[in-house]
Amino acid sequence: MMQLAGKTALITGAARGIGRAFAEAYIREGARVVIADIDAARALETAGELSDMALGVMMDVTDQASIDAAINAAIGALGGIDILINNAALFTAAPVVEIERADFDRVFDINVSGTLFTMQAVARHMIERGQGGKIINMASQAGRRGEPLVAVYCATKAAVISLTQSAGLDLIKHGINVNAISPGVVDGEHWDGVDAFFAKYEDKAPGQKKQEVGAAVPFGRMGTPDDLTGMAVFLASDAANYIVAQTYNVDGGQWMS
Ligand SMILES: NC(=O)c1ccc[n+]([C@@H]2O[C@H](COP(=O)([O-])OP(=O)(O)OC[C@H]3O[C@@H](n4cnc5c(N)ncnc54)[C@H](O)[C@@H]3O)[C@@H](O)[C@H]2O)c1
Repeated sequence: MMQLAGKTALITGAARGIGRAFAEAYIREGARVVIADIDAARALETAGELSDMALGVMMDVTDQASIDAAINAAIGALGGIDILINNAALFTAAPVVEIERADFDRVFDINVSGTLFTMQAVARHMIERGQGGKIINMASQAGRRGEPLVAVYCATKAAVISLTQSAGLDLIKHGINVNAISPGVVDGEHWDGVDAFFAKYEDKAPGQKKQEVGAAVPFGRMGTPDDLTGMAVFLASDAANYIVAQTYNVDGGQWMS
């Protein structure tokens, strides 16, 4: 039986990577999906490649007007939103003494403000509609602990875990479950960028950091976007109705709390 038959989902940052894999998995499970991304051309391309159950829209999670427009487009196309995945995010790295305020502001704007205000706008819609819903935020093992070069990104993901806890407790009275997924290291274009930061700051050869982090995962390799889809489907399904304000590690055994 399809676990999300008849459901509708808005997934931010779904033009590529993990968000795209979530969209594919949701469609397989019977959901209709809006693929929202700042890269509008790629969002449309991805939606076209996936299915006629998918719609691509432009959405910049740092811009309230863009958040509202994308949500309205999703409601117009789908009739309402049952599931939100706050997946859009940006990685950055620098030694603490080199962190630039503009970079800090930009990454917090996308990863934290974007998550909060997209969640707020979709929660308002869900409350008004009166049918509850499921909200899934993308955290990271980076939110569980610090890393010498990754102070800003780690702090944003710790904030996502904290927002998930508070919003989860606040919104469950409306039948809205807010939970988060905390991946470890997941291969893809995102990690190509991460690898380049470590090549710069740790004098590593291109690809070396990726190889090292993959070898350090207890499971024995980096994750793939598809490794995360089971949890994303489960948390969006009725089987997760009693799960509130939690963050789940899906990381091949890297973290245990
Ligand atoms: N890849 C990993 O190793 C990893 C590990 C832990 C957590 N995560 C988290 O998982 C999520 C997805 O990661 P990914 O690897 O697929 O990343 P990715 O960089 O491949 O994809 C991110 C998407 O977000 C979009 N985006 C960027 N800024 C945006 C904005 N302002 N508004 C809307 N969309 C915007 C990008 O265009 C891109 O399509 C992120 O929240 C990331 O922090 C990833």
